[in-house]
Amino acid sequence: MDKIKVFPDVYRVSRTAAEYFVSRSQVAIKERGRFAVALCGGTTPEQMYALLATEAFARRVKWEQVHLFWGDERCVPPNNIDSNYWMVRHAMLDTLSIPPENIHRIHGEMKPDHAAADYDTKLREFFAPASQPRFDLVLLGMGADGHTASLFPHSQALEAQKAWVVANYIDEMRAWRVTLTANAINQAANVVFLVTGSNKARTVKAVLEGEKRPTDLPAQMIDPEEGELFWLLDEEAASLLEKR
Ligand code: 6PG
Repeated sequence: MDKIKVFPDVYRVSRTAAEYFVSRSQVAIKERGRFAVALCGGTTPEQMYALLATEAFARRVKWEQVHLFWGDERCVPPNNIDSNYWMVRHAMLDTLSIPPENIHRIHGEMKPDHAAADYDTKLREFFAPASQPRFDLVLLGMGADGHTASLFPHSQALEAQKAWVVANYIDEMRAWRVTLTANAINQAANVVFLVTGSNKARTVKAVLEGEKRPTDLPAQMIDPEEGELFWLLDEEAASLLEKR
């Protein structure tokens, strides 16, 4: 797959992402007996999650060998409408039968630093004895401000060098988040951005074709060390790109 793929609409972005999820899960489970994927929040991936829950996709995934993680979480309880876990639960978990022990949510109901420490421990146990968290797949969205996961412009989390997970206070939202660090995301075997909508077009162009300024555009920090990076865009989000 080319690094940047442009599709006519959100449905085709979502379907391609769902197909990629299925194919990467089959490879990982065949090779290592499990598939570790970090899901993203926001509205863009909802259609993809809903597709994965349909019979046409669900029957092609060995869900009992799939381990779901989250790339970030809002510091709210799991039954709060703002929770990324809540969104995924309603989009697909309520339909699929995934062993509860395979669902590794970030405990947004905890104090932010405790939630980060708890998730960090979970990740280190899961990936032990490896010294880095090598997800088979990390799904990411991107905000119009260039944030990804909960790596927001000029936020403390951008400075984390070795940490895998941090609590991150987002000034403009006056809210805490817990997020994988860029370092952790960059250990993944496959990273896929799903970005759609005309409101993202200027930022997509700045991130992909503009000068490198990662503290302004944290999505530019994502560059897997030994992995693949793909951008799945709809026409609207890609409309200002020169190179397509
Ligand atoms: C979150 C996400 C965040 C999201 C972007 C894009 O917790 O909100 O992890 O990084 O992917 O904000 O969100 P939309 O898909 O809603 O535009």
